[in-house]
Amino acid sequence: MPQLDVYGYELCPPGVEISRLAAEKFDIPVSYEQLDYLRAPQDRYVFPKTDVAFTMFSIEQLPRDCGVAVGNMLDYVRLGTFHIEPVPENYPISLVRLSVV
Ligand SMILES: C[S@@+](CC[C@H](N)C(=O)[O-])C[C@H]1O[C@@H](n2cnc3c(N)ncnc32)[C@H](O)[C@@H]1O
Repeated sequence: MPQLDVYGYELCPPGVEISRLAAEKFDIPVSYEQLDYLRAPQDRYVFPKTDVAFTMFSIEQLPRDCGVAVGNMLDYVRLGTFHIEPVPENYPISLVRLSVV
């Protein structure tokens, strides 16, 4: 979908680096930057506002403040966010579940 502008944020610098290498290897026009979407100040959101943001198996790694993270994402999109994340009820023994109990 060459008509789309796609950007990626990632917490860990090695993850950013390998994402850039993969984009280059497969000739995929996606830009990546390091960002902690839970704690970063506004000036760390370097990409333009997008229509949507999505996460996949990422919010699940936050022990708490998932709502804060989603709220931060909503500040940088026009339409909304979507999330491919595990449902806690499917994982009764997990760090996320234990932190809620
Ligand atoms: C389980 S991996 C999933 C990676 C990829 N989305 C996938 O499905 O293969 C979770 C990713 O979320 C990132 N992540 C976790 N907390 C984050 C945060 N606060 N800000 C940005 N990225 C975060 C991790 O560094 C990691 O790369």
